[in-house]
Amino acid sequence: MTKRTMDADRGKGPVRLLLFAASLGNDSLNQRLAAVAGATLERSGARVDRATMREFDAPSYNPDVEAREGFPPGPKELHRRLEACDGFVIASPEYNASMPGQLKNAIDWVSRIRPQPFNAKHALLLSASPSMAGGNRGLWSLRIPLEHLGARVYPDMFSLAQAHKAFTESGELADPQLAGRFEQNLRAFVDLVEAATHYPCMKKAWIEFLGEPGETVGRVDAA
Ligand SMILES: Cc1cc2nc3c(=O)[nH]c(=O)nc-3n(C[C@H](O)[C@H](O)[C@H](O)COP(=O)(O)O)c2cc1C
Repeated sequence: MTKRTMDADRGKGPVRLLLFAASLGNDSLNQRLAAVAGATLERSGARVDRATMREFDAPSYNPDVEAREGFPPGPKELHRRLEACDGFVIASPEYNASMPGQLKNAIDWVSRIRPQPFNAKHALLLSASPSMAGGNRGLWSLRIPLEHLGARVYPDMFSLAQAHKAFTESGELADPQLAGRFEQNLRAFVDLVEAATHYPCMKKAWIEFLGEPGETVGRVDAA
């Protein structure tokens, strides 16, 4: 079945969003934020596929391993789940003013698998951190590889500052004003993905310039 037929078969059902926190920790602040996001996205009408970073984790990217053994299970699983969704939401920790290594590593592996699944997918970025900036610098760094790969990263990002104090006992956002903004942000994202999924009007090519013709290169794509 072609993608076009599959889209037509789906009619105008709920949009499908992959959601995961990019932390490998059990007691993760970003996992808590992702849990609030999951409920909010569902209230906004989306169907949510909840995942964890542990499902997508992999040894550091190594071209020799790729040539010898192909792709590890984690990146293959992330690729499969991205292919099955209309958009994705990542709640990412900030490590040293950037994204965590495990997330960049997963993106690097998945970018090698065809079809390259970030291309033309809508993305919403969230972060939670005990700091006053809430991990926002990490999200700016995360935009770069995602946009490079053709993802349509939603302009508004949500960063939860002082996240260790920001949740109620039942896991909601404690500050009602902040909770309202969070809900508004996520609803607007779902509206956009719905519009883009059901009423597509723009196609974008992902073309990576890799130098002069004739060079031997491992990465060329034009979608
Ligand atoms: C290696 C490392 C670097 C970190 N760098 C930053 C940073 O630059 N900015 C920040 O806000 N928090 C930083 N933190 C603190 C994390 O925000 C904090 O550990 C947070 O709880 C991680 O997210 P998680 O709870 O979802 O795992 C860093 C933590 C680690 C382990």
